[in-house]
Amino acid sequence: MATQLIVLAAGQGTRMQSDLPKVLHRLGGAPLFAHALAAGAALDPERTVLVTGHGAAGVAEAVAEIDPRIVIVEQDQQLGTAHAVRMAAAALAGAEGDAIVLYGDTPLIRPQTLQAMIAARKAGHAVVVLGFEAADPARYGRLVMDGRELTRIVEFKDASADERQITLCNSGVVAADCATLFDLIAEVGNHNASGEYYLTDIVEIARARGLSATAVTCPEEETLGVNSRADLAAAEAAFQTRRRAEALEDGVTLVAPETVYFSHDTVIGRDALVEPNVVFGPGVSVETGARIRAFSHLEGAHVGRGAIVGPFARLRPGAELANEARIGNFVEIKNAQVGEGAKVNHLTYIGDARIGEAANVGAGTVTCNYDGVAKHLTEIGARAFIGSDTMLVAPVRVGDDAMTATGSVITEDVPDGAMAVARARQTNKPGLAVKLFEKLRAAKAKRLKDRG
Ligand code: UD1
Ligand code: CA
Repeated sequence: MATQLIVLAAGQGTRMQSDLPKVLHRLGGAPLFAHALAAGAALDPERTVLVTGHGAAGVAEAVAEIDPRIVIVEQDQQLGTAHAVRMAAAALAGAEGDAIVLYGDTPLIRPQTLQAMIAARKAGHAVVVLGFEAADPARYGRLVMDGRELTRIVEFKDASADERQITLCNSGVVAADCATLFDLIAEVGNHNASGEYYLTDIVEIARARGLSATAVTCPEEETLGVNSRADLAAAEAAFQTRRRAEALEDGVTLVAPETVYFSHDTVIGRDALVEPNVVFGPGVSVETGARIRAFSHLEGAHVGRGAIVGPFARLRPGAELANEARIGNFVEIKNAQVGEGAKVNHLTYIGDARIGEAANVGAGTVTCNYDGVAKHLTEIGARAFIGSDTMLVAPVRVGDDAMTATGSVITEDVPDGAMAVARARQTNKPGLAVKLFEKLRAAKAKRLKDRG
């Protein structure tokens, strides 16, 4: 049976104190709503509808970047969760199977949890709600159960003193047959303490029709909704804890797991080793046996098998390290391929470049890739040896097995096997240093004497 996904993302997020719509704030390098979408994607949804409101244009743009098939509908006024879901009705007209309602600001929900909800639907419950035992139920809606049957959901504002004692709370996630869902929502009114159309009212409406409702539960963490920067930080912490555990589970050595930061899409191979204080920005893959040493920062980079990066290295987008490459301390690599076994070990900037296999780039080398207007390519051949403090003024090519002398400013191509020397020749003046020192010391002594 098909599944349809509805993601509510209209909320303003006033408490974020931000010009950015709440669901565009990032967690693990991806916007919040993308995490809910990723969990929902595990159900292989036929259609996905995202309901936007505040900052709709920006949200629509970000959604299209992730998946242009997602239908975006706008809720002009936030009249409640049922009203928000109703906005998706036209986009889901005629859709078959179950619909699942997720919240764009609730990023930690797990695919397995959604699958458990679908299983409960298959077991014959018309409405399946996701609940959790709240450590502090605060202002959450409460699930009123009668055995396995969910009899109603009552919002905190509308709850009696007894109902407020209930600790089983509503996460907001709901599953129901798609057509039935919209049918039930059509009956929802707004006669309650908030004057809003509550999605939660569909439980009582379903039961009045003789339909069954139940709750599936999950750990509270999965239902963590982001309403403030503090919530965002808490969600990030929970996300990182998860990713670290997954990496360890996958056979990655993390020397100090709590100091390593992952992105939503970080891929690390088995038997890779990550030292303390490493940050993985989006788009990084690290192959098996590679070693990422302490205090390195990587984004948009690929690290080949057995390569070593850092300590204190920076890999920027387009850094492609072949197997066994070595990138050392205070080296920055951007948009550059570093060949198999090539070494760039100290204090160097490599941008817009291709470095051949087994080349050796000396300390303090700079690819001068930018003329202030355009970027240019530097090519370094296989087995080439770049002397320390070489400036490679791009576009330029150093051939295979070629060499550059230390301190050279290379502005012209160096043929294969050639040695390029591009610096002033040294001359030694015998005895001149001693004379110079004498002169300087005499001048200093005179100054001190004159001052008295
Ligand atoms: C809702 C639930 C409550 C549950 C809680 C969990 C209802 C009536 N209440 O309450 O039982 O415990 O979530 O966090 O459903 N939204 C829209 N358009 C609207 C209103 C809301 O898109 O018109 C979106 C919000 O952006 C948010 C989500 O729906 O992502 C929940 O809305 P919110 O106003 O935060 O609901 P709560 O009052 O927290
Ligand atoms: Ca809320």
